[in-house]
Amino acid sequence: MKSLPQPHSAALLGHLPRWGAEPLKLLEEGAELGRQAGTGLFRLHLGAQAVVGFSPAWNRLLLGDLDTFRSAGSFSRLVPHLAGGIILTDAPQHAPRRRELNPVFGKAAVESLTQRMKAACPEFVSGRVPEADALAWADQAALKMLNAAYFSGEFDEDLLRQFLAPLRRDFPAPLLPRPLVRRRVEAELARLARGRRSDLLGWLSGQAGGLTEARISLAAAHDTSTHALAYSLWFAARFPQWHAPEQHPALLKEVLRLYPPAWMGSRRVARDTEWQGLHLPTGTLALYSPYLSGRDPALWAEPNEFRPQRWKAAPPAWAYLPFGGGERTCLGLHLAQSLILTALGGLPPLQVRWGRPEPHPSLTLGPRGPLLLGVRH
Ligand code: HEM
Repeated sequence: MKSLPQPHSAALLGHLPRWGAEPLKLLEEGAELGRQAGTGLFRLHLGAQAVVGFSPAWNRLLLGDLDTFRSAGSFSRLVPHLAGGIILTDAPQHAPRRRELNPVFGKAAVESLTQRMKAACPEFVSGRVPEADALAWADQAALKMLNAAYFSGEFDEDLLRQFLAPLRRDFPAPLLPRPLVRRRVEAELARLARGRRSDLLGWLSGQAGGLTEARISLAAAHDTSTHALAYSLWFAARFPQWHAPEQHPALLKEVLRLYPPAWMGSRRVARDTEWQGLHLPTGTLALYSPYLSGRDPALWAEPNEFRPQRWKAAPPAWAYLPFGGGERTCLGLHLAQSLILTALGGLPPLQVRWGRPEPHPSLTLGPRGPLLLGVRH
């Protein structure tokens, strides 16, 4: 580990101050050092020793070996909204649990919810106001569409907003426990679960631990979908040739390559491991980065350009990971895609008025905002 390069850091606190203030710059600096060293790896000190990699081989190792690279000690454990259910379940329990959950969030199940999500999606502009903030709109749209998919729209919307709001704030807000709101959410879930059938809560409530999975997956769903949707609107406005239902899948793929909401993923090494001559001791934090992998010049032509036409060809294996990979691939992949494509499909032609689209990494990565868009006539 000591042989790995590291970006410059404050002596006492390691990389924590830069991780808080400018994490993308820190990652890019580390990635450049990793490239120069020929390993594609670098280390950070984030309270514990961390190894960061972004090559397909590293991604495959970290996401493929669930016995060695565990979720129980990952960053998710620090976020009360995400610390539980399938997210913190490790091998050997993980695979059977996913087999139970996969059909609930599978393609066919999600398709049966699409009409309901479409009906719940708000108009982009209403009345005589000809413009709106795409980020604020995406936040509302994701909330209402998830409410429709999970609860047939019956979950108290204010409570849902209150529950999910801390995840969008800067650190340390997402790390703070909020026992009162959580208890109210649990009570609302239990109330709604009684005697229901044809929505996500209905399907989950038949399973042991199903209400916990509903709460946790909802927290994993909202910010990620909001940010991907907001960026999609921005690019649909900037590049109107990609704002058509048959072009939207490529637009979304490209948005997720450049701005993956889950910009970092983490695991904890559970047993001493050797990899390509590198010794990874037990307890090391092992990180992968969909952001770095998605912009690696060794893997992508013109990596920082928005070029949805690149999606005519398949991406390099283990290079494109906005939904993670392997057995822990995002449980909500179909739901997220359906929500975003459904929302995009209902939008009028758009144009950019003004905005701050630069990425703002917190728990998830999204545009700093606002993103003011008007309707194109
Ligand atoms: C654009 C939207 C989304 C993105 C970019 C995204 C991204 C990801 C990523 C990268 C992972 C893997 C994390 C890791 O390797 O540690 C993941 C896992 C997960 N996601 Fe999503 N997600 C999105 C939407 C959703 C939605 C709608 C749900 C609702 C079900 C969801 C629920 C989950 C869950 C429960 C896991 C953990 C799966 C496991 O560990 O087996 N996500 N997501």
